[in-house]
Amino acid sequence: MPDTTATDRTRPDRLPEWAALGEHRAMLGEAHLRDLFAADPERGGRYTVQVGDLHLDYSKNLVTDETLRLLRALAEASDVAGLRDAMFRGERINTTEDRAVLHTALRAPADAVVRVEGEDGGNVVPEVHRVLERMAGFAERVRSGVWRGHRGDPISTVVNIGIGGSDLGPAMAYEALLPFTGSEAAGERGVEVRFVSNIDGADLHEKLRGLDPATTLFIVSSKTFTTVETITNATSARAWLLSGLDGDVAAVARHFAAVSTNAEKVAEFGIDTENMFEFWDWVGGRYSMDSAIGLSLMVAIGPERFREMLEGFRTVDDHFRTAPIEANAPMLMGLLGIWYGAFHGAQSHAVLPYSQYLARFPDYLQQLDMESNGKSVDRAGRPVTWPTGPVVWGTPGTNGQHAYFQLLHQGTKLVPADLIGFARPVPGMSAELIAQHDLLMANMFAQGQALAFGKRAEEVAAEGVPPEQVPHRTFAGNRPTTTVLATELTPSVLGQLIALYEHKVFVQGAVWDVNSFDQWGVELGKALAKRIEPALTEGADVAGLDSSTAALVSRYRSLNG
Ligand code: F6P
Repeated sequence: MPDTTATDRTRPDRLPEWAALGEHRAMLGEAHLRDLFAADPERGGRYTVQVGDLHLDYSKNLVTDETLRLLRALAEASDVAGLRDAMFRGERINTTEDRAVLHTALRAPADAVVRVEGEDGGNVVPEVHRVLERMAGFAERVRSGVWRGHRGDPISTVVNIGIGGSDLGPAMAYEALLPFTGSEAAGERGVEVRFVSNIDGADLHEKLRGLDPATTLFIVSSKTFTTVETITNATSARAWLLSGLDGDVAAVARHFAAVSTNAEKVAEFGIDTENMFEFWDWVGGRYSMDSAIGLSLMVAIGPERFREMLEGFRTVDDHFRTAPIEANAPMLMGLLGIWYGAFHGAQSHAVLPYSQYLARFPDYLQQLDMESNGKSVDRAGRPVTWPTGPVVWGTPGTNGQHAYFQLLHQGTKLVPADLIGFARPVPGMSAELIAQHDLLMANMFAQGQALAFGKRAEEVAAEGVPPEQVPHRTFAGNRPTTTVLATELTPSVLGQLIALYEHKVFVQGAVWDVNSFDQWGVELGKALAKRIEPALTEGADVAGLDSSTAALVSRYRSLNG
């Protein structure tokens, strides 16, 4: 096993390969994509990778063959492949939590063998498939109406209560796969799913609006089952349910299910562990959407489509494990991000889906990427002297075009961006709406082109623009994008996309030598909130508050009378 915490490990920015990239960057200077494309008519075809149904075009990045060679050398020197293989083998690469990192086992085929290092439990794959089977049985019962509420009614709405990784993945995927929810043709009933995450009571309040407790099923999703937001919302949901069902506590068993690694806490909360779907500590919260955390999604789309999604994940897992670095999509995407962060000073990375169904994909990626690689010490605990994870952000591209794209085109910040689009619209829309797809995609292609090639002052002037306006209407271009053009947004393609980004994040963490699988940075705020809360609810004194927080607390109290 590679010793990931070794203090004699060469820091990335002291590797000769890092220095070589620095020199190469200086030599490239402001080499323009216009010139790179002009010098190599094949560029647009050469700098592409096909993985499953995803076509990745990275030709509009600020790279040459030499850049790619040097980036590959950096990946080799950092032994990204070694760490990747250790992850797939079940080694405990999450050293600060002493855990294996095995989200890839969640989509392994039934005959695969994956063991967790240092555990006697043996192969985890049969256990994964056992839970999948239980989930499928439950989902089918709910979807078909066999599962009945306390008063004998079938379930029409599932409310998923969870936060972070226990919310963002299923919520994103539910929206992405809305066209695959229910199917009258197959005689399936559509079950609506709503997602509640915020401790702000407004979230639950709004999501319960119009619901009938007799036909509502809550799925409480929490890896730890101790997360304050989730347990508080689940407790309020329970009270709402009981008040609507004459206070009969027997109703809880028919209206509450749980997804967790913590059976004890689930039982303590009062949910029958018969209705609990488990996962394991070797699945990180932000890597858990294809575990039982996806139960609400499975209820919505059905087990078969959920399995298709898992197959999509697996397609990219296999590619990541086996493709050489230069033809390996997650490797390339990860290395490009490192190139921009360390050698171009990029602070952020935009993800711009040209798909309304993927509206929540950037939110999902924020946790995946920023909770994984927003670190400032290396795996041995030493402060890093190189930039780590970027700020990840984005919205559907067309909407962004009318908002912040101005800055992308003419601002002073370099923002590398991913443009994600689909060759075909999802079926089921009217012919008129399907026809809008070409316009949508024309926008995506146009933005990649405009960002890369810009518009020169001479071209602007040649259009008769008055000289004083020319600088305002000039586009410098040379703004990098990677285009992911997929066939169609199906469950499998969604799985492929998610795995692509999971592994991209892995590659970056491996090169930056950070532990991408812990999240200690979220703990301090949680602990402080616990200390401050009694001051707000009971007027208790909180010792040791700074003058700003103390004044805010006291103003809050006085405003509440
Ligand atoms: O606070 C951060 C975090 O721990 C995430 O990593 C996690 O996805 C989320 O909270 C929810 O945790 P849980 O699933 O244990 O409720």
